[in-house]
Amino acid sequence: MTDTVDAVAKPGCNALMHVEPSLPAEWYYDPAHHRRELERIWQHRWIYAGHTSSVAEPRSFRTLGMGTQSIVLLRTRDGELRAFHNTCRHRGSLLCREAAGRLPADHLVCPYHQWTYETDSGALARISSFAEPVGFNREDYPLFKVAVAEWRGFVFINLDPRAVWDPGTEFQRPPDGFANFPLEDMVVAETWHTVIECNWKAFWENFNECLHCPAVHPALTKLVPLFSRRIINPMDVPGWQVHAGSDDPRYRGGLRKGAQTWSNDGSAQGATIATLTDDDLARGHCYASSWPSVFIAGYADHVRTVSMRPLAPERTGIVAEWLLPPEAAASPDYELSNVVEFAKTIMEEDARACELNQRGLHAAPMTHGVLMPEEYLLKRFHDWVRAQLSSRR
Ligand code: FES
Ligand code: FE
Repeated sequence: MTDTVDAVAKPGCNALMHVEPSLPAEWYYDPAHHRRELERIWQHRWIYAGHTSSVAEPRSFRTLGMGTQSIVLLRTRDGELRAFHNTCRHRGSLLCREAAGRLPADHLVCPYHQWTYETDSGALARISSFAEPVGFNREDYPLFKVAVAEWRGFVFINLDPRAVWDPGTEFQRPPDGFANFPLEDMVVAETWHTVIECNWKAFWENFNECLHCPAVHPALTKLVPLFSRRIINPMDVPGWQVHAGSDDPRYRGGLRKGAQTWSNDGSAQGATIATLTDDDLARGHCYASSWPSVFIAGYADHVRTVSMRPLAPERTGIVAEWLLPPEAAASPDYELSNVVEFAKTIMEEDARACELNQRGLHAAPMTHGVLMPEEYLLKRFHDWVRAQLSSRR
């Protein structure tokens, strides 16, 4: 028998107390609704674009696709980050075709008719015609600007050029656990791209609950015993106070005894990040989330970012980055695959679960699902989505 939460809940428990409907099923596949989310959410929120070390050199650039939008992020000769729509003001050609690279000069040159733009200001510097037509002013045709912000080495962009970055509001799960991580100085040691055939919201919902963990993640539930109880925080169940102070990881959280990090063998290979405290290490992992685009996970020896972009209503692009301190990244004794393969297994398991979820949502009678007590973070996510969609822009 399963008790109702109302009957047994104690103060301070995270669980949902009342039945809550999930979002309308058609919000996960309807093209018109998807366009609304692109406009209301993805084109107005800060979107993770990558770690600063991935555009470290002057003239280095990356292009980022987001729905129908393409953005170019670059480093100027003076070391500043700039972002523009990857679109020429002449007749709209894409400017950069590659996913990443190094510009040959301090200009962006359109591959179609060679209009040339300054990389620092986006100003139109040259056109290729034999003359400028009467009434034409170059100042009227700069690149469309995109706002850029850097937080502790993580680069975010906002398609609203007037947007102001505020870490106090952009992290729904605050990055408190990362205070002792040398995030700014870490380097990207591995990057993994994949595509999941699901709506971007299905990805976040799956990330925000562990009801699925025992069935979907056999290795992870062994490494993180709390997850075998289908919860992500010791305070997620009524009566959690009974076990407060317990050293058993099934109740206090953290990793199984003897494990140091998220890796195939649980070992950090002697590469524990030097600035972490005993409390940081005892925690086993920590997280920060910035909706709609990224979560950051911190472990004893590495940091992993997982960012996403909507490619279509039922297709989401995923990029995972593994960040290491430079010494570990350069060390022949550190076997990166130990952490990368473990995380890839988990992410693949989640991807298949999200795809199953997506396919089932199309049932004609399915208007919406329902949230269970452990899914309180989904309720927060759904409230956030609804608020974004109804806010005045
Ligand atoms: Fe770019 Fe013509 S479209 S120069
Ligand atoms: Fe999962």
